[in-house]
This record gives sequence, structure tokens and C-alpha cells, in this order.
Amino acid sequence: MRYHLRVLRFAASYPPPSALAATTYSSPMPSLSVFGAQWGDEGKGKIIDLLSDRVDIVVRYQGGANAGHTVVVDGEKWVLHLIPSGILHEGKVNMIAAGVAIDPVALLGELDGLKERGVHVGPDRLRVAANAHVIFEQHKRIDALSERWKGAGRIGTTGRGIGPAYGDKAARTGLRMADLLDPDHCADRLRANLAEKNAVIARIHEEPPLPVDELVDRYSALGKRLAPYVADTGAELRAAERAGKRILFEGAQGIMLDIDHGTYPFVTSSNTGPGGIPSGAGVPPQMIGRSIGIAKAYCTRVGEGPFPSEIHGDEAERLRAAGHEYGTTTGRPRRAGHFDAVQVRYGLEISGATGWIMTKLDVLAGLGDLNVVVGYRLGDQRFDAYPAHLADINGLEMETETIPGWTEDISGIRDFDQLPETARAYVDRVEELVGVPIVMVSVGAERDAIIKRGEIFEPGWGAETVGATG
Ligand code: GDP
Ligand code: IMO
Ligand code: MG
Repeated sequence: MRYHLRVLRFAASYPPPSALAATTYSSPMPSLSVFGAQWGDEGKGKIIDLLSDRVDIVVRYQGGANAGHTVVVDGEKWVLHLIPSGILHEGKVNMIAAGVAIDPVALLGELDGLKERGVHVGPDRLRVAANAHVIFEQHKRIDALSERWKGAGRIGTTGRGIGPAYGDKAARTGLRMADLLDPDHCADRLRANLAEKNAVIARIHEEPPLPVDELVDRYSALGKRLAPYVADTGAELRAAERAGKRILFEGAQGIMLDIDHGTYPFVTSSNTGPGGIPSGAGVPPQMIGRSIGIAKAYCTRVGEGPFPSEIHGDEAERLRAAGHEYGTTTGRPRRAGHFDAVQVRYGLEISGATGWIMTKLDVLAGLGDLNVVVGYRLGDQRFDAYPAHLADINGLEMETETIPGWTEDISGIRDFDQLPETARAYVDRVEELVGVPIVMVSVGAERDAIIKRGEIFEPGWGAETVGATG
């Protein structure tokens, strides 16, 4: 038995071959990429929700339920893991594209949670890629066991099965959403995958193997429930672009967790920046117009791995408490550090960002003078650009510049000129050190806690509302 994929039509057919031969590709409606420019948890959920107002489609293109994106609307808190942060805006289409690793249990849990709170999440609003890889029980199990095996060298993963699932994708032993919809096919491929995984679980980790028949039945049933949402999202996105729809790509994690350009091996298993969009969503690279990074006014990291601007002791505790820096997905305390201008510049440069959004500026009130990292030292070497070529950046010492702090609560301010002079000076100096314009400053978790400074949206998108200059 096969479930038929429903097609969401955005009209417009592909141009004839003659037209293609005669022109280079130029996007009729360039899309917007918004991504994390640090180690994740920059406030992407809040910003994507805010910008969703202006878009037709919001797309997740990488990562999985390791993400925890918080949106606060009218005092109500929502945490999204797999479903894009555009879901709270009625009438917007949200897509989970091919590059995402989808845990069907997590996805259905999230869907049910939203429905219980009155959010309509039908197949007209949520589209799931048929060619996205599936995270199964064995991936989560091996994620945990492999961390235990590594001991002190562990990554500190979220335990959501991300690494093992992307590993299967690269090893070509994984299953995709389309496989899940065909019970016979699913049973064969899942049994083959489990045979190998159970051998690893039992022989290497010396733990009981997983129950194969039970898992085959459980996942086939989950596939049946998800079937109405599954689609060729790449085709839908390309048609949407041709039909002039405005598309927003929502990054998960952050550029320093990028598998190629982050602090490997202490990274996640996908390309987190705009570089991940074309392959992750199945769209031409030229379709991406602007890329906008998001970075906190300070810095945090969850899990293990190098963090050059990290602070410790009471200073870190004060920042953690002020910013409520505890993991959205795992509840772990986040490590805290100074804003690192060298690192953010690197993240924005790789991504071709034309602007960035500074979040959580309000958190810095009352924390005394502020330090910003402006360079690194390693022995007698000095770096003023991020040294991505080094095998190990653990030994980097930070060079900082001290900027006076402020004590006033700025969370109610909506106009840059109304900020205390010291807060304005901090934003201006950080912007200068990074070298890329700050287009918005976020001063609270709520949707409206935002100060606009520059242009965010593509010119063709119009400038009449939230992203308008001023
Ligand atoms: P994400 O993973 O990038 O979406 O970020 P998280 O949701 O994991 O963590 C960001 C946290 O900061 C959430 O609790 C947000 O509600 C909150 N937040 C976002 N922007 C601001 C801000 O400007 N000020 C304050 N105080 N909190 C914010
Ligand atoms: P959002 O989208 C912060 C971190 C984990 C760990 C490493 C690898 O909310 O910003 P994984 O489970 O992906 O194999 O873990 O990556 N990590 C995140 N840190 N925010 C996230 O997502 C993260 N997703 C993964 O803590 O260090
Ligand atoms: Mg998060």
C-alpha cells in the first residue's frame, strides 16, 4: 500500500528550455535567510516569528529536534523543535525540508502540543519533505551510548539521535520519510538498519538490542499518521518562488556548530548557515537573496568544546541568571561568555550576511562594565581573524576591550535614540568591531520588544511594515 503525496500548488510552470538556455538564473523573488551566528540559542525563534508576518513560507532546512526555538506571544511561551517558528502566524505555510533529520515521535508530539493549544496545523500549513531522513529509536540510543563510550571526550549532544541519523544518511543506510509511508518497504529497510545497529548496541556497547518487530510496527503507524503532511517540498518551494512567494529560511543551531566551519568535532551534523539551504531545501543557490545573522549581545554555548570568550565563576553565574541561560531542549545550564567580535565577524563573513540582529541587549543591564573580544593570542601569535585553520582552538586566549555598562532597564525602549548613551555606545562599538550593520536590536523575549535600525527584507518584498528603516 502506498499513500499518495498531496501536492500544494503554487501554480506557474517551469520556463521552456529555450528560455533557460538564453538566460542565467535570476530569482524572480529572492528569499531571506536568517541563521544563528554564534553557538546556537541566539534568539532565532523570536526573530523568525517576528519576521514571519511578512512572508508566505517559513522553511527549516537542516538540524532536527536538537533545536529549541522559543517564541513568546502575549506572555505565552511556545518552544518549537522541528516545526518552523512561523507556525504561530495563521495562514503561513511552514516546511520541514529534505536536509532536516526528522524524528516522527518528536514531530507528532509537537503537532499534538500545538493543536491542544488551539493552533491549526493541517497539511495546508505544514509540509514535510518526502526525502528528509528519519530519526529512529536506534539513533537516539546510539547517540547516548556513543557519548558514554567517548567519556571525557564526549560532545555533549542533545541526545536526539542527530549524529547517528546523519551518519546513516552519509553511509546510505538511512530511511527517508517516503520509505516510512510504504509499510512493506519501511519494514525491509528498517530491519536491515536495525540488524546493524543492534549488533553495535549489543556487541560494542554491551546493552540489550532493540525490539525489531515492535519498532517496525510502531514506525509504520507513525508514518501513516504523518502521511498527509509529506510532500515534494523542493518542488513546492521552487514553484512558490516562480509564483512570487516570499520565502524565509530558518536556520537552526549556529554557525560555530556547523559541521564544516564550526569547532569540529564539537559541532552538530549539518551545515547550519545559508550554505546549507540549497542542498537542504532543494532550491537553486541563486534563490537566496539576503542573509541575516542573529547574535546575542554576549555569548553562550551548550555542550562541550572550545569557547574562546568563555567566563567562569560568579561573573558567568550572574550572566546566566540574568539571561535565563538554560537549554530549551535539555535544560542544561549554558556556558556563558563575552561577545566575541572576531567569531561573529567570521560567522557573518562565511554566510555573506549583509546585516545582523543583536538580541538580549536588555540582559546586560546592571552587569557592570562589559568586555568584548577583539582578538586572540596563542603563545606569541596574535589573531585578529578567526583561526579556522587551527586543529585545536582550545588554547586561544582572548584579548578584550572594555566598554562601560549601564544600569537602566531598557526592555521597554523601542527607539534606538531613547537607549541610555552607554547602551547605544555598546551597540555602535560592537557593530564597528564586527564590521557588518546591526539591523535590529532585541530587548526582550516578546514579539514587540524590538528596536529597528536598518533594512532586513529583500527590496521586492516592500518596506511598509516590520523591517522598515527607522
Ligand atoms: P533559539 O534557539 O535561537 O531560538 O533561542 P532559544 O529559544 O533557545 O533561547 C533564546 C531565549 O532568549 C528564549 O528564552 C527567548 O525567549 C529569549 N529571548 C529572545 N530574545 C530575547 C531578548 O532580546 N531579550 C531577552 N531577555 N530574552 C530574549
Ligand atoms: P538551537 O537551534 C545550542 C549543540 C549540543 C552539542 C552539539 C551537538 O536551539 O540554537 P547534537 O545533538 O546536535 O548532535 O549536539 O550541538 N546543539 C545546540 N546548542 N542550540 C541548539 O539549537 C543546538 N543544537 C545542538 O549542545 O554541543
Ligand atoms: Mg535554542
